[in-house]
Amino acid sequence: MEGKKEPIVLDVNHMMSDIVGFQYGVDAGEVEMMKDAARAAQAAVENNRGKGWLGWMDLPFNQTAIVEKIEKVAADVRARFDAFIVLGIGGSALGPIAVQQALNHQRWNDLPAEKRGGPKFYVEDNIDPERMASLLDVIDVKRSCFNIITKSGATAETMSQYLIISDLLKKEVGEGWQKHIIATTDSERGNLIQLARQEGFELFFIPDGVGGRFSELSPVGLLPAAVCGIDIRAMLEGAAAMDRRCKSGDVWKNPALLEAVLQYIAMEDSHANVQVVMPYADSLKFMADWFCQLWAESLGKNVTRKGMAVNNGQTPTKALGVTDQHSQLQLYTEGPYDKVITFLKVGTFRSEVAIAHGCEAFPDVAFLGGKSLNQLIDAELRGTEYALYSAGRMSQTITLPEVNAYTIGQLLCFFEMATAYAGELLDVDAFNQPGVENSKLASYAVLGNTSPKYLRKAAEMKDRPELLKKYLL
Ligand code: PA5
Repeated sequence: MEGKKEPIVLDVNHMMSDIVGFQYGVDAGEVEMMKDAARAAQAAVENNRGKGWLGWMDLPFNQTAIVEKIEKVAADVRARFDAFIVLGIGGSALGPIAVQQALNHQRWNDLPAEKRGGPKFYVEDNIDPERMASLLDVIDVKRSCFNIITKSGATAETMSQYLIISDLLKKEVGEGWQKHIIATTDSERGNLIQLARQEGFELFFIPDGVGGRFSELSPVGLLPAAVCGIDIRAMLEGAAAMDRRCKSGDVWKNPALLEAVLQYIAMEDSHANVQVVMPYADSLKFMADWFCQLWAESLGKNVTRKGMAVNNGQTPTKALGVTDQHSQLQLYTEGPYDKVITFLKVGTFRSEVAIAHGCEAFPDVAFLGGKSLNQLIDAELRGTEYALYSAGRMSQTITLPEVNAYTIGQLLCFFEMATAYAGELLDVDAFNQPGVENSKLASYAVLGNTSPKYLRKAAEMKDRPELLKKYLL
């Protein structure tokens, strides 16, 4: 898919007090006061490029050989299979979902095979038994390729799916079942790498320093995208272009840095503890999900890097324009002053749909005739922005001139950089997720795993107060 290689634009007018009013907006003076902190945050991220958990910063630049291999394997998958199924969760699933939804036909799986030119695409990022059963109702495993994605190579959800699918493949395909599995995992750690080597699966590595939620531009996202015919080189090129815009330590020249600083001020000074990402385009709907994980898991921490107790983070949530104007907007305009709304706007949609003339006897309906859905969605975005403005609420708009691989690459990189900078400003480790680990340990303890760490967790869980019948209705 060819697309215009134009920059995405961050418009923060409606964040600023000189536009939305002094009571709730961010004062430009506050940004000035944070200039040094912003410069230090940018330098800290930049100086550690490629080190520790900042390996993801190199992904737009260091994957020439891997891109070639991905394209080769993707071509083979496109030729051999009717369905391509990602088995993964969290950072190993949200990116592939978001990119596929953004860049491919929105009813990809419903298209006739010759129009798709590639397999149907599924991402199974939950272990709901009904969902797995229903997947097995609609795919033919003998004609399916499964991409098992897990950085740790140990995630219970993904490895359970692996057990189910490999068992089915052995039964239904028999000899050569291994050719239906592609593993994407760490090159050394975890069980999946050992299984992959033992069984001889096609293998892709998630490089060192690339955590789950920062992995979309690694084989985690590139292989599924390439299988669906997406131009992964343009995606990486877009990310590289955004990376160049992030070279500046000047908050007014680096969009991701400005984003981090404004959200930081919004959180600290205006108690805007919620950020609603609201794309006005179905194609960007799951970009909001991907962002929510990135922002939440990276910044929601109870300790600073120096060990001070805090409860940091801004709750990201998603809405879809215009759909949620009829569901959430009432709250956004009149509810608590605790939110920033981030619109994702599309400059030019890939389709134009005219609204037919008619209903002349009903002037308000007839008025719509002769306009287009494109005009209507644009007008509704402007209307919502205005409604928030008049209610003194903060919003900002990220415009993608069009949705293509290049602009999506920029958007991914923009949010990743903003998250890394925000981690610096909040002084938290943006790359771990200890709060998630506790739940994993507790689940295994509940299942009765007898390894010492699970037994310890089971004992700890017994200390919880007895649940009371009076609270059961
Ligand atoms: O961002 C993260 O690291 C997590 O959300 C992981 O992606 C998620 O827990 C899945 O982990 P894994 O890829 O190891 O299966």
